[in-house]
Amino acid sequence: MNQLFRTKSVERLLQESTEGKVPLKRILTRWNLVSLGIGVVIGTGIFVLTGHAAADYAGPAVALSYLLSGLGCLLAGLCYAEYAASLPISGSAYTYCYATLGEFVAWIIGWDLMLEYLFAAATVAVGWSKHFRPFLHDFFGIQLTDKWCQAPLDYVNGQITFTSSQMNIPAVVLVWLVTALLVVGIKESARFNNIMVMIKVTIILLVIGLGWRYINMDNLTPFIPKNTGELGQYGWSGILKGAGVIFFAYIGFDAISTAAQETKNPQKDMFWGMIGSLGICAVLFVGMSVVLCGMVSYKELHVDAPVVYALQKVAGDDLKWLRMAVEVAVLAGLSSVVLVLLMGQPRIFMCMARDGLLPAVFAKVHSTYGTPHITTIFTGFICSMLAGFLPLNLLGELVSIGTLLAFVVVCIGIVVLRKTRPDMPRPYRTPWVPFLPIAGALICLAQTLLLPADTWMRLIIWLLIGVAVYFLYGRKHSKLRNS
Ligand code: ALA
Repeated sequence: MNQLFRTKSVERLLQESTEGKVPLKRILTRWNLVSLGIGVVIGTGIFVLTGHAAADYAGPAVALSYLLSGLGCLLAGLCYAEYAASLPISGSAYTYCYATLGEFVAWIIGWDLMLEYLFAAATVAVGWSKHFRPFLHDFFGIQLTDKWCQAPLDYVNGQITFTSSQMNIPAVVLVWLVTALLVVGIKESARFNNIMVMIKVTIILLVIGLGWRYINMDNLTPFIPKNTGELGQYGWSGILKGAGVIFFAYIGFDAISTAAQETKNPQKDMFWGMIGSLGICAVLFVGMSVVLCGMVSYKELHVDAPVVYALQKVAGDDLKWLRMAVEVAVLAGLSSVVLVLLMGQPRIFMCMARDGLLPAVFAKVHSTYGTPHITTIFTGFICSMLAGFLPLNLLGELVSIGTLLAFVVVCIGIVVLRKTRPDMPRPYRTPWVPFLPIAGALICLAQTLLLPADTWMRLIIWLLIGVAVYFLYGRKHSKLRNS
């Protein structure tokens, strides 16, 4: 039993991270990190979920849902920042747990993180494909058929059903292109991400700036619509439920910590990368929420493309160019989300393989490209299969609950590490420990409580599969156990 909860010392983790034959390339700057953070955070959330959460749960107060959810992320982010500066290793929360709560919890969190990275990447790739079809049609007059743009399986009313489609080809192609870029190099990937970020942020700023003129105050009054009598339908409980739903929008900012071994000065820059990108995104989220709900009534916003819908309604053909630009921004936005998530996952697998919990081949780094090429290709392949064939509407909330769980554990871990290793060098210290991490853990936990019960069930099933894999493989091959 004790073996399960044995921790790996910070010194040993740091030493082992430099032991591979070929090191990862240290080339990322502070600005690259901020850009990667924005690249991964701004996607489905701002363009789609803002409208849905406003229409179904929070009304115009979706802006408050964003602030509440952002506060939970900020507190968790400050804890991540202490870890990422003291333990700049690509394993992120998995490695932090190994140092604080022991091998078994680390494995469970590593397994859980697959929801945040691998499954979220597949979900976003499917979203990308959904937007790619109208884009091809509107810009080039090309009409793709359902047969090749949807998965053959669907999930409706708790049942898996067959569709008439064969495979979601645009989603699969996107995942493969992104995977190829990630294999070729971190520098190339960061450059592509910078371009995507520039496109999406510029267009979001244009929507906020130009949309401002069309705000009708009647749409924003009352700012917090009265609760209907049902928990989570408007009112304060609606704001909390909305926060749980739009938490998806913030997902990914912690992925920056998986680039710690490729960052020039992780001790200083990790903090700026995570907190800087989080701050910029929160401002854009709140700005977009106010403008969107100000342009049209929140009740109308449960549509596939709420931003395009609102612009069309208030400005008609006057802002046609902006509507088209939004379509481009969505595609750019979602492709960089997939890129950064698929950058993070293989780096976590790599660390797990280094610790012996996954086969050693996953820890290999390409001698020329300096990337974990085998695990990147493996991750890309699995992601493309998920995106191509499975009904991913089953996964959206599972991704959020999995990420929130990781945040809770990271917050608790900071308190534990302060007790067990008070002497450890900490280039950045989370302020107000233990109050801040405890508040962070509570806010993240509260957001999971209003998620549907079957999401919890699915999470438990997923974690039980992880436990089985650990006992069948990881425990026997663990380097810590065998040392
Ligand atoms: N935060 C990312 C998005 O909204 C996952 O698409």
